[in-house]
Amino acid sequence: MPETPRKILITSALPYANGSIHLGHLVEYIQTDIWARFQKLRGNTCFYVCADDAHGTPIMLRARAEGIEPEELIARVWKEHTEDFARFHIDFDNYHSTHSPENRACAELIYARNRDAGHIVRKTIQQAYDPEAEMFLPDRFIKGDCPKCGAQDQYGDNCEVCGATYAPTELKNPRSAVSGATPVERESEHLFFRLANFEDTLKTWHQAGHVQAEMANKLDEWFEAGLADWDISRDAPYFGFEIPDAPGKYFYVWLDAPIGYMASFRHLCDREGIDFDAFWRKDSEAELYHFIGKDIIYFHALFWPAMLHGAGFRMPTAVWAHGFLTVDGAKMSKSRGTFIKASTYLKHLDPEYLRYYFAAKLSPHIDDIDLNLEDFAQRVNSDLVGKVVNIASRCAGFIRKRFAGRLAGNVDQPELYETFVKAGAEIAGLFEKREFGRAVREIMALADLANQYIDEKAPWVIAKQEGRDAELHAVCSMGINLFRVLMGYLKPVLPHMANEAEAFLAIEPMTWDSQSEPLLDHAINKFKPLMTRVDRDKIGAMIEDSKEDLAAESQVATDTTQNKQADSPLLADPISETIGFEDFAKLDLRVARIAKAEHVEGADKLLRLTLDLGGETRNVFAGIKSAYAPEDLQGRLTVMVANLAPRKMRFGVSEGMVLAAGPGGSDLFILNPDDGAVPGMRVK
Ligand code: MSP
Ligand code: ZN
Repeated sequence: MPETPRKILITSALPYANGSIHLGHLVEYIQTDIWARFQKLRGNTCFYVCADDAHGTPIMLRARAEGIEPEELIARVWKEHTEDFARFHIDFDNYHSTHSPENRACAELIYARNRDAGHIVRKTIQQAYDPEAEMFLPDRFIKGDCPKCGAQDQYGDNCEVCGATYAPTELKNPRSAVSGATPVERESEHLFFRLANFEDTLKTWHQAGHVQAEMANKLDEWFEAGLADWDISRDAPYFGFEIPDAPGKYFYVWLDAPIGYMASFRHLCDREGIDFDAFWRKDSEAELYHFIGKDIIYFHALFWPAMLHGAGFRMPTAVWAHGFLTVDGAKMSKSRGTFIKASTYLKHLDPEYLRYYFAAKLSPHIDDIDLNLEDFAQRVNSDLVGKVVNIASRCAGFIRKRFAGRLAGNVDQPELYETFVKAGAEIAGLFEKREFGRAVREIMALADLANQYIDEKAPWVIAKQEGRDAELHAVCSMGINLFRVLMGYLKPVLPHMANEAEAFLAIEPMTWDSQSEPLLDHAINKFKPLMTRVDRDKIGAMIEDSKEDLAAESQVATDTTQNKQADSPLLADPISETIGFEDFAKLDLRVARIAKAEHVEGADKLLRLTLDLGGETRNVFAGIKSAYAPEDLQGRLTVMVANLAPRKMRFGVSEGMVLAAGPGGSDLFILNPDDGAVPGMRVK
């Protein structure tokens, strides 16, 4: 135990307010939450804050596409995010929003101080402008043909077909992803943060061990490339804070996002009377830690400490990056059903399975971590159910039935108990260093010892022999006490299960040190299984639930990759609320006869339809398998979009689309013109 409790402020990166929390995000929130809970159990004064990252072009456009104000969108997402986090037991002391008065005040202050210290300059730049939508376009909102390979419909920064990277001005046939108009170059004055002013400060800071070694290497490369001025302003229309001395200009989302850490803490301080300055003033002895993903290192290891320093605040104690989540060895994928939302997971599985599994895989390094679903089931079942819970379930029944639910006045092997207590120092050291995987392995090695002890003593044998009651009592009390120590160590990882164990043991909430003495002559409650086995069928159901209709995916852009170097892109393509008559007239809708309908090998949702358009036939993949068996469809008439550009899908080329109504799944009805229509007839 440290002599004086440390003062610690911890953050996780702020999730964007236009998408759902998914298992990738949870790597970070679970990692941070375990560390924060550990610090609190150690008796430190510790606050864990976060917020939604609510500003920027994608959020503005997403709201527009939904026909609502951005404020309404971010309020809805905030509610979803906080619910998901609560159900995964992510225990924030405060969860705020960057679109808040506290954040506006902090952003204005940090900006003004940097400006007054000469760290902000104004420059006029040329930028792509959408004359129809009347807005400047971030790179990701310009699409066109790749200058290298000619592939169509590529983003303004890189080609997904040949992998080339380029400037948006190099695209052929460029068009705006917002309106479709051809972008023009336009001048605009922007504000820049002079990052180069902080080169020495940042280098010294990095060398002083505030970042991981792997990160320091990456930073060296960036220093060698030179620190460029950073554009911190955006023109209207923009969803963000207007810059006080630059009307019509807004703070770029990445300026006020990290400031959101400070603002969320300010909000907490105002509510609970905590001394804000004690954590943020230049000579603060409080510790400040930022947990982030590896994709946002640049912002946290360069811009953020520089902005803080320029504004006269302290710099972070450490910035810790983790790697990305893969599922079964591959990037999360919607079509494979491995892009799993937090809320989908929760419909099928216990959140503590995932907390445990991530803990077992996490290290202080930046390597990616893989969720292997078979390994997940096996590890949870064998470690938590097979080892930990098993200790208690093997002993609790005897205590209850034979000793009226009361533990003995002594434990059978005090030395073994002492071994468990002593291991706490090493396990704490591992948690402190974010060596969660190693901490978990140490704890499981103790669980093995406890099970070995019980196997050797075989209380079920002693129980059958006369005159050995005292021994049975001591052995089972020993087992329960070992279980208690283990649950104390697992509490940062499995807070809910630890609470259930506390209820079973009828004890006060455990802290890191509260298990140094065994529980003796103490009444416990009836044992209820604290965790059930992972059911593999439920994993399968979760994957099915996560699979998006491949056909649907081809219609709606579901790109969630965030371009952290430029602005963050849109989650879904902007959908206009109304379309003009010309747009409608472009659709060639025809009556088609379903000549043939077949299953597609390897596809869960698709049927292959051969459509007869009155002479011409088309091959179309339709995501309607959950609603129709092939034999129900053969011979029927339906309506199709006949002039949809052919699309290459995983199973072949789809040459059109059939129209259906309904919410999806089995409630899906293909449009069925049975009133004298003939194949090939136009639909008006
Ligand atoms: N809004 C920014 C962060 C601003 S912090 C001042 C952002 N948001 S995000 O929603 O895209 O990501 C939030 C955090 O989750 C980031 O740290 C990111 O690295 C992490 N992850 C997002 N997807 C992830 C995986 N697939 N795997 C692991 N972490 C991932 O970035
Ligand atoms: Zn290309």
